[in-house]
Amino acid sequence: MMAFLLTALWGAPMPDQLPRAVTITAIRQDTPVIRSFSFDQNFEFSSGQFVMVWVPGVDEVPMALSSANSITVQNVGDATAAMFRLNIGDTIGLRGPFGNGFSYGERMLAIAGGVGAAPLLPLARSDCIMTFLLGAQTETELLFVDQLDECTDLQIATDDGTLGAQGFVTALLDDLNLGAYDRIAVCGPEAMMRAVLSKVMEVGIERKCEFSLSRYMKCGVGVCGSCCIDPSGFRVCRDGPVFSGDVLVKSEFGHYIRDASGKKKPI
Ligand code: FES
Repeated sequence: MMAFLLTALWGAPMPDQLPRAVTITAIRQDTPVIRSFSFDQNFEFSSGQFVMVWVPGVDEVPMALSSANSITVQNVGDATAAMFRLNIGDTIGLRGPFGNGFSYGERMLAIAGGVGAAPLLPLARSDCIMTFLLGAQTETELLFVDQLDECTDLQIATDDGTLGAQGFVTALLDDLNLGAYDRIAVCGPEAMMRAVLSKVMEVGIERKCEFSLSRYMKCGVGVCGSCCIDPSGFRVCRDGPVFSGDVLVKSEFGHYIRDASGKKKPI
């Protein structure tokens, strides 16, 4: 009865809003804390779009697609820890893809930190990225080095200097001619992305720079309001997760996020 009433009130759910049960076909350990899970169905998607992943009996969480049939997961909480206990042949539920994804250019620069390389890998494989800046704390935490090296001019920075330049990935920007790129795509820890935004603002190119945000999400489809950012009220799930730099300049971006109760947590 409830399903009938909701359908009558809201209309029939769109196909992408219904969970699809998929079977895990492969699990790859990418770094000590990151694994890629491949499944038996392909999703038509744009780089940067995400799916809501239902881990049976635990929770439903947003994850970017790292290919048409895979997600790449960092073990950071209850749901991701439960995912790390899954095996080949297990079933998870996926809704989506949702959100807007990155804009494509012809001469792109990509900047990624940690697991932020996951939504940028499909963009790199589409041959539009000239230069890829990849950062992590240490060599073993660098994600997709071989895959990105195959299709881009890959430049690496590690905090401890175990591979590439020593220091933050943002320092690599100082040696680039940013005018040579028509679009810049960024994904990683928000403090790192805010540092990139500050650098591109110095040369007035924040409009051609796009950032992928991560926020607490309940519904994933623009209804619950749990992922809204201040002060615009844009919903990360529906209006993002990718936002142009000029939209983020005077926002909560890089300053705080909200937890499940809506309480602010400093970045
Ligand atoms: S997660 Fe519900 S509005 Fe974005």
